[in-house]
Amino acid sequence: MQKKMKRYNKNEIMQLNYTDFISLIKEENRPSGGKKTIREIAINSFINENSNVLEIGCTNGFSSIEINKITNCNVIGIDINRNSIKNANEKIKSNGLDESKIRFEYGDAEDLSTFEDNTFDLIICGNAISFINNKDKAFNEIIRVLKPNGFISIVPIWYKEKPNINIIKKVNQELGFEIHCYYKEDWMNYEDKKLELYYKKDYSFIYCSKRQIESYVNKMIDSKNHLKIYNEDEINLIKTRWGKTINIFNENLSLTNYSVILLRKNLVPEEPEIFLTKGC
Ligand SMILES: C[S@@+](CC[C@H](N)C(=O)[O-])C[C@H]1O[C@@H](n2cnc3c(N)ncnc32)[C@H](O)[C@@H]1O
Repeated sequence: MQKKMKRYNKNEIMQLNYTDFISLIKEENRPSGGKKTIREIAINSFINENSNVLEIGCTNGFSSIEINKITNCNVIGIDINRNSIKNANEKIKSNGLDESKIRFEYGDAEDLSTFEDNTFDLIICGNAISFINNKDKAFNEIIRVLKPNGFISIVPIWYKEKPNINIIKKVNQELGFEIHCYYKEDWMNYEDKKLELYYKKDYSFIYCSKRQIESYVNKMIDSKNHLKIYNEDEINLIKTRWGKTINIFNENLSLTNYSVILLRKNLVPEEPEIFLTKGC
């Protein structure tokens, strides 16, 4: 039987930490670029209905669900947050997906021992890569479970230049932990990991106006049927809190770019390339 959702009072709503608040509103937590990014990953990794895909740091399942919808590939999404896994699993049926082709389970990028060597054609790690503590350990595990010539896709967000300490303080306070400031060069070199940089495209974020944010927050919260148990006052409080978070993220993201990156598991060293080309 499904467990009844906890109903928070106004005080508790204000006190919830970021992760629990996200769980309350069941925000999808898309990778940067959303569906456009998933399409770019699917097309450039050539996956199809026979492919096995693992998503690491799947949060509420957005990327896994979207890639299954557009390719009918087999997908497993893992995350260290059990609430997120529960939310993601609830979305399989409601999206009309084939339960034999998609599932979500607890799992840590640093220990993929439940998966055998050479299992996956594609591993998606989105911006979750920025939140993994021991990246070397995670990369070793990722390379182990990837098939030869399989792809790992990451979508890291990075600062264009050193940000002002005040915005970092605001983001840290909002999230309840300290973010690491990454720069473009942090996501350039994978040769030591025996990964070939196969595809890379950089994007910037479009700054949102206050009015756009207000309209998004209203529509987003009003679209959540599970929040209908809250009265008008409480809904307004949830909207105010979400609006504050989005305004801080908007300010922070305007200082950043992101990259869609595909790396290929290489068994033999690549010969270096000379005479690179560009469109003319
Ligand atoms: C910013 S969210 C990722 C959002 C979105 N899925 C994406 O790909 O951009 C980071 C997610 O990574 C998860 N995470 C952090 N460390 C992890 C680890 N070691 N293994 C698996 N998931 C992890 C967090 O619980 C969180 O759900």
